Amino acid sequence: MSPVIQEPAGIFITLEGGEGSGKTTQARRLCDWLTAQGRHVLHTREPGGTLLAERLRSLLLDRSAETIAPETEAWLILAARRQHVDHVIKPALQQGMIVVCDRFSDSTMAYQGYGRGLDLRTLRTMNKWATGKLAPHLTLLFDVPVRLGLSRRRGQRSSQNRLDREATQFHEKVRAGFQTLAKQEPRRMVVLDASLPLESVQRNVTTVITRWLNARRRQPRQR
Ligand SMILES: Nc1ncnc2c1ncn2[C@@H]1O[C@H](COP(=O)(O)OP(=O)(O)OP(=O)(O)O)[C@@H](O)[C@H]1O
Ligand SMILES: [Mg+2]
Repeated sequence: MSPVIQEPAGIFITLEGGEGSGKTTQARRLCDWLTAQGRHVLHTREPGGTLLAERLRSLLLDRSAETIAPETEAWLILAARRQHVDHVIKPALQQGMIVVCDRFSDSTMAYQGYGRGLDLRTLRTMNKWATGKLAPHLTLLFDVPVRLGLSRRRGQRSSQNRLDREATQFHEKVRAGFQTLAKQEPRRMVVLDASLPLESVQRNVTTVITRWLNARRRQPRQR
């Protein structure tokens, strides 16, 4: 008899997009909204989410650090991801929670793959290895013109990091990469216009999530 594979009971939602696209702002608002509906929610982020992973995050974003090779950057991010998946995300999903994660595997494909030029197939394999094949049920892609996103980030002067300093051309490749990923998996990735005012983006997020949760209730096996 083949073993019964138990699907984790929870829901895994990731928020993706370039710098200043509004992921962190919308993740907070989404979590507040879901919590107000009586849902059990875990809000977390990548790289990060555990003590070790947060330390790796600091190293990765540190502006004064030595030059980091793209491969080194990828390994550090994936090491952080494995810790995060094992110690935080999977346990929460097993408890039936909704996990809202600010960046996940798609960021690795967009930044290290499309942005830095690392081989996409290799990265995809490494990602699967790091996540134990855990994939988000739903991903919201916050799409914003590069200049607008970066100008929003520059408004937060205290939190300028290593990636904010990359050339505009790099961020353009990342944006196009995210758009390509969304075209490849349109059922999982929903693209939102993040250049709209904050409240409009929030309304659109709520609409997408409500529709998705309703559809899932009707056809739980297909999602
Ligand atoms: N739709 C919006 N319109 C105007 N300003 C916004 C909008 N969304 C977010 N902001 C502002 O832009 C700044 C960056 O937003 P936020 O930190 O949420 O972006 P992010 O995608 O998490 O950025 P990062 O990739 O750097 O983590 C914040 O000051 C936030 O208040
Ligand atoms: Mg953020």
